Amino acid sequence: MFNIEEFDIKLDTEFIGRNFIYCDEVVSTNDVLLKEKEFNKDGTVLLAEYQSKGRGRKNRTWVSNAGQNLTFSILLKGDFKENKINLINLASSLSVAQSLDTLYQFDVELKWPNDVLVNKRKIAGILLESSSKGNKINKVVIGIGINVNQPNFPGKFDIQPTSVRKEFKAIVSREKLLSEVLNNFENNLNLIKVEPNKIINDWRNRCKMIGEKIKVVMGDKIKVGLFDDIDENGFLILKIGNTVEKIYSGDISIR
Ligand code: BTN
Repeated sequence: MFNIEEFDIKLDTEFIGRNFIYCDEVVSTNDVLLKEKEFNKDGTVLLAEYQSKGRGRKNRTWVSNAGQNLTFSILLKGDFKENKINLINLASSLSVAQSLDTLYQFDVELKWPNDVLVNKRKIAGILLESSSKGNKINKVVIGIGINVNQPNFPGKFDIQPTSVRKEFKAIVSREKLLSEVLNNFENNLNLIKVEPNKIINDWRNRCKMIGEKIKVVMGDKIKVGLFDDIDENGFLILKIGNTVEKIYSGDISIR
């Protein structure tokens, strides 16, 4: 059981998670916050113990044992520009990385666009989705799955999963971790407004693939080049010979 009181004591935010919804089972926490009109408050966090159809990026599924991990979504309301959404995406993975660092002293790596890795294994994933009214994006939902106390991961994966329990060699408090992530996330959201370069720099410093030769898969297109950097909005700068290309989405791997 998730102890809401314990979580609440450690939550140190103005608005993120102040409207907190906890449920046993949903299809996907992202779907609920995107589609259900009753959940409409900026900063709402929905945590589910189990998702019957948890979703990952690129139509993949996100499988997570019931009651052992953190599968939750954060709702942001407003008027969002495309560039800002990408910064929010980076700020989300950065918040998870900072929290894992602080609580368990992991050396956390961020893999573009926003996978969170420990010892080259995936410990958390993020799925950011949005909805629009007219031509304005008015709702952003950030879905975060963190493998916390799951002991093993049977099956085949693109990147082998791991959990805090496996890396830290102990069962840890999900309440403490969730409050830490939300505290960091609110802090990073504020930084996007006043010092966006700090988000980019902190993210860049954790991205070990910069400088490497990589393969980028974008649907049925494949590009190979040098991962030169990320730009001021977090998009990937790929050098192919003498030309430079900006990559907005895709899956990357070392060549
Ligand atoms: C990925 O790495 O492909 C992203 C995984 C995102 C999983 C989370 S779990 C909570 C939220 N609800 C979903 O259905 N997906 C996200």
